[in-house]
Amino acid sequence: MSKVVVLKHPLIDHKMAKIRDKATETKQFRETVSEIGMLVTYEITRDFETVPKMVETPITTTTAYVLKKPVVIVPILRAGLGMVEGIHNIIPSARIGHVGVYRDEETLEPHEYFAKFPLDIADSAVLVVDPMLATGGSASAAITMVKRRGATDIRFVGLVGCPEGVKRLQKDHPDVDIYLAAMDERLNEKGYIVPGLGDCGDRLFGTK
Ligand code: URA
Repeated sequence: MSKVVVLKHPLIDHKMAKIRDKATETKQFRETVSEIGMLVTYEITRDFETVPKMVETPITTTTAYVLKKPVVIVPILRAGLGMVEGIHNIIPSARIGHVGVYRDEETLEPHEYFAKFPLDIADSAVLVVDPMLATGGSASAAITMVKRRGATDIRFVGLVGCPEGVKRLQKDHPDVDIYLAAMDERLNEKGYIVPGLGDCGDRLFGTK
């Protein structure tokens, strides 16, 4: 069974309060989502492996340590895009794949409409990113898409989760650890997380 980590940090809590507030406008919402993306990445990458590398400092030669694997960030379109800049800021060597998933209105099954990944995704540590882990359908489909390209080292990164989404992801992908900034109560009948923060994509991009 995968682990679920709800990241507790005063700065994350403070910034979550900002994005939950419906009075927060698009610019600040977008900037704050990005900042939280940066903070959660610091925690999520804590167990990444490093390898020694000889480095010449201005004074002498020393053994330094660098990340063992390349990192690939995979935002799920479109809300996932909001967290990419913050993550990329602290892992600038990361490449970025993209995944688009839509839900068939009749079968309710998620389908891939866009996928573009770096060639070495199979050897990389992959962060699949979507701020809202609601039903878990899109996240599960996106992870399946990444696995189909050979990736085995995958983490899911979100801001707000709920029991329904966590349960689905753990059932479909027991090998994928889940990292969240907050774990909320439930989904409502319209598929929104309660208390949540509303439609993250709309709030990021100023749409309705
Ligand atoms: N997607 C969102 O943007 N918000 C929710 O509450 C659930 C899914």
